[in-house]
Amino acid sequence: MSPPNQTVVSEQLKTAIAAACSQSNHLLHILYVLQQKFLHVSDEAVYGVAAHLGVPISQVVSVVEFYSFFHKTTRGRYDILFSNCASCGDLELMRLLCQNLDVTAGSTRADGLVSIGETSCIGMCDHSAALLVNGLPITGLDIRKIVRITALITSEAPLCEWPTEWFSVDDNIRSVGLILNDNLAVGDGLRAMLSRGVPDTLDEIIKSGLRGRGGAGFSTGMKWKFCKEAQGDAHYVVCNADEGEPGTFKDRILLHSHADSVFEGMTISAFVIGANKGFLYLRGEYRYLLPQLETLLASRRKAGLMGKKILGKKDFDFDIEIVVGAGAYICGEESALIESLEGKRGIPRIRPPFPVTFGYLGQPTVVNNVETFCAAAYIMQHGSAWFRSIGTEQSAGSKILSISGDCAFPGIYEYAFGVSIQQILDDCGAQDVQAVQIGGPAGTLINSTGFNRRLGFEDLSTGGSLMVFDQSRDILEVIRNFAHFFAHESCGFCTPCRVGTMLLKNGLDKIASGHGTQYDLDEMQRMGELVKRRSHCGLGQTAANPILDGLQHFPLAFEQRLVYHEFEPHFDLDAALEEARQITHRDDAAAHLE
Ligand SMILES: Cc1cc2nc3c(=O)[nH]c(=O)nc-3n(C[C@H](O)[C@H](O)[C@H](O)COP(=O)(O)O)c2cc1C
Ligand code: SF4
Repeated sequence: MSPPNQTVVSEQLKTAIAAACSQSNHLLHILYVLQQKFLHVSDEAVYGVAAHLGVPISQVVSVVEFYSFFHKTTRGRYDILFSNCASCGDLELMRLLCQNLDVTAGSTRADGLVSIGETSCIGMCDHSAALLVNGLPITGLDIRKIVRITALITSEAPLCEWPTEWFSVDDNIRSVGLILNDNLAVGDGLRAMLSRGVPDTLDEIIKSGLRGRGGAGFSTGMKWKFCKEAQGDAHYVVCNADEGEPGTFKDRILLHSHADSVFEGMTISAFVIGANKGFLYLRGEYRYLLPQLETLLASRRKAGLMGKKILGKKDFDFDIEIVVGAGAYICGEESALIESLEGKRGIPRIRPPFPVTFGYLGQPTVVNNVETFCAAAYIMQHGSAWFRSIGTEQSAGSKILSISGDCAFPGIYEYAFGVSIQQILDDCGAQDVQAVQIGGPAGTLINSTGFNRRLGFEDLSTGGSLMVFDQSRDILEVIRNFAHFFAHESCGFCTPCRVGTMLLKNGLDKIASGHGTQYDLDEMQRMGELVKRRSHCGLGQTAANPILDGLQHFPLAFEQRLVYHEFEPHFDLDAALEEARQITHRDDAAAHLE
């Protein structure tokens, strides 16, 4: 995008920018408001925002180009994005809607009425096929619903006239444990914290053995301790609610039904590390939760649980701002998230230094997952022994799982760590299971020989996703779906991941289309290991996992697609010459390759 020739920004745009800024000065927020109003972010808007915020035009341009929810060309008045996830995606339905409305997938209809495209998992995997229309989720899609959506769009019915039940998203809680079973009375965690004081509060969190629920499993107490001890002008608390890993939706439920505990956990962290300001970074796909979360924050302020002198404690001021992401999975990586909070592209930082010493605006920052903060609030109330009473030596407490795929009862399950995969499969009504993907595409793919393995940091760890695939599934297609996801979501900063994820995706496409050879499989193994070893951040380091696990546990899924055993080009050379044959009017034997 080049800067506009005219430096004059229209009054209408200036007013829109000022209105957006009156709510929040955050760049993502301003761009979102403009995108909503004008259905795209124009060059003029980029210029106006840069001038208004006093930041370089190049920064605004790079942000618009980085996040997939911002567009430089005009979207439809109905802007529809179908999930392409292995659990909550159904692109056949997308093609049907495109056909019904005469739209080419990935584009906007000429009259500007509707645009239809696909997007990565939208966190609705317990509700089968799902889409976003103007940012709002509609779940449980089937052919009948697509027909009704076609009619509603054709008659230009505003969204408020669409069936309201379409927009309500159930929690789908199937089994409860320590956390989901408990109802913390609002403020109780904070009262327990104040009566303990800072050193004992921190001690209690360390003793509980709580480890991060976002995937990496670092000790939460130690993270808070390092941050507290780090020097800085200010300290910050950040709640990572980006939840972009396909198959993961447990934070959606916590934010919907246990948000008080999440805010309470953040406030406890602030008390320990000495922070006055916190952020909740909410994934763009969960924007529909924003009004409810803002209302809750307001009521906590009113109740003296947030803001100045919390619960009357002198010098304990803390408030939380919600920043909404814009469709970039990489922003779940903590340093990329911090960059995004600073109004930049979500490119992971070089670490060390880690966020605990050099985080938001270069200051000591705690970043924790939604579930981690929630657990911390309960630990404050009930004590570390309560938390340690279940789980295993290295994995104390419970884990909330998002279960989806081929099972009778998809939804949310809370288990004590140490539970076997077979137990989980029995509980969710999974039969004839071929494969289980634990921890999302970045996690581990197992076959039936692994069903006796246990959930926990010492064996199978997960940020919260468990996807079930029965015998009817083509595992190669599942793995290909994951490979496409990573190639799409790679931020492009480092070569091993940017190029490697693309080559892995292309390799799988080649095999799936029947042009693969043993050479391609060997190449994918080699490339997968290279991407894993050489990539800059966790995305690249885990992107090849499904392929490497697949080659190990499901070799037949690959081998049965190999037609040739020697070298086979990625495309049909003879077919590629067809155009030349037509131009020269030749179709004799010599004009063909053997
Ligand atoms: C590509 C990528 C995506 C991630 N996405 C998330 C996420 O959505 N939510 C999350 O809590 N952690 C995510 N993480 C892990 C975070 O970097 C970080 O470890 C975590 O937020 C720390 O919180 P915890 O200690 O409570 O787990 C992601 C990591 C990577 C590499
Ligand atoms: S590994 Fe991938 S996502 Fe991570 S920095 Fe490199 S290109 Fe970006």
